[in-house]
Amino acid sequence: MSGYCDLILKNVSVPSGIVVDISIKDGIVVHSGSSGRAGEIIDCKGLCVLPGAIDMHVHMRGGKEQSSKETWETGTKSALAGGVTHVVDQPNCIPPVTDAFSFESRLAEAKEQAFCNFSINASVMEGADLPGMHRAGAAAFGEIFAAPSSYGEGVPEKFLRQAFREIEKIGGLATVHAETVTEGIDDSLSAHNRLRSPEGEALEVSKVIEIAPENLRLHFCHLSCPESVNLVSGKNTFEVMPHHLLLSTGMFDDLDTFAKVNPPVRDEETRHELWRYWDRIDVLASDHAPHTIADKSAEFSCAPSGIPGVGTMIPLFLALVYRKKISIQSLIDKTTVNPARILHMNCAGFEPGMRGDFTIYPKTAEIIDPERLHSLAGWTPYEGMEGVFPEKTILGGDVVYSDGEFFRGNPRWIPGDGYIE
Ligand code: DOR
Repeated sequence: MSGYCDLILKNVSVPSGIVVDISIKDGIVVHSGSSGRAGEIIDCKGLCVLPGAIDMHVHMRGGKEQSSKETWETGTKSALAGGVTHVVDQPNCIPPVTDAFSFESRLAEAKEQAFCNFSINASVMEGADLPGMHRAGAAAFGEIFAAPSSYGEGVPEKFLRQAFREIEKIGGLATVHAETVTEGIDDSLSAHNRLRSPEGEALEVSKVIEIAPENLRLHFCHLSCPESVNLVSGKNTFEVMPHHLLLSTGMFDDLDTFAKVNPPVRDEETRHELWRYWDRIDVLASDHAPHTIADKSAEFSCAPSGIPGVGTMIPLFLALVYRKKISIQSLIDKTTVNPARILHMNCAGFEPGMRGDFTIYPKTAEIIDPERLHSLAGWTPYEGMEGVFPEKTILGGDVVYSDGEFFRGNPRWIPGDGYIE
């Protein structure tokens, strides 16, 4: 090809089996085939190259009150060191994102600190200005708490109906956290699993589907069991999290708060059953919900729910690709192609016109060690499991992570399609 590019990735083996050189200019792939001249050339022979992933469900925390758990800087560095180049932040931060003003202030914090691309979602709660946040550039509405969780109050059904109508009218995407919480003493992982049961999750999913207006774009967050996955069909979409596919209650002491998460980690049988739906899962997202070791060291009933995961999601699943448990294309579809389609955004990829975000991995896995992760949480429930971690991550043609070192390239805010400049 002719013309001068910013970066060429040479000898990239794409999932179809062919080997190409990828040329990137002004942040975008401009050619995939033979290469020309460039400011920088990286030879990827013998390595695995994936498009930068979109993690469409993360809690970046930050702000005055939650910066000990995570900041936009540490959270987005964790993302880059885990092969994620675009994070979609959930709005249950403190203060929550409820109108154009709080949206702008969240955006300013992200713009100042982020190391990877990012989008920001809008809260759905009484008094929230949904059209205002849509115009300000919210990527989606939610996660909408159809049941209470850490830093999220359950939304009453009457209001949910009204909010759905409003989101339908403006053409937004509603993302829903569906659970039913039963009264009881929440003092162990098994109790947590019982009080926020698979049946309760499925019940709430069916209620939400029933009240959703016909043309609403509806996406379910973190479905954890076959009962609820089976209910989602047609144009509605859903995501599943690594912890529901890789962890089960029996792997932990029953009082272990570090595995406390909403929806809960299920039993081993449910985890196995969920794998049977791998091909139907639209999105794999992390629900990166960092809480510090000190926060998690509280008594079970008081400990916050949530598991950090943006830095380990792709490494864990790429290790499964290497072990031939899943195909590389299925991983790319669930972490890049489908999130972009659902969010109406461009994604990274090997074809011209796609974002020039890539991650370069070695051909061997390593044992996950919390000391080598970058989240302020400082722990991971995947310690000791196998993960394949990037050697380099590229954002819009710039090397932004290389062998443990970060470089601030040109991280971008990716607004939702309601954005009016
Ligand atoms: O376990 C969870 N933690 N589930 C959620 O839905 C929220 C999250 C958090 O923000 O910590």
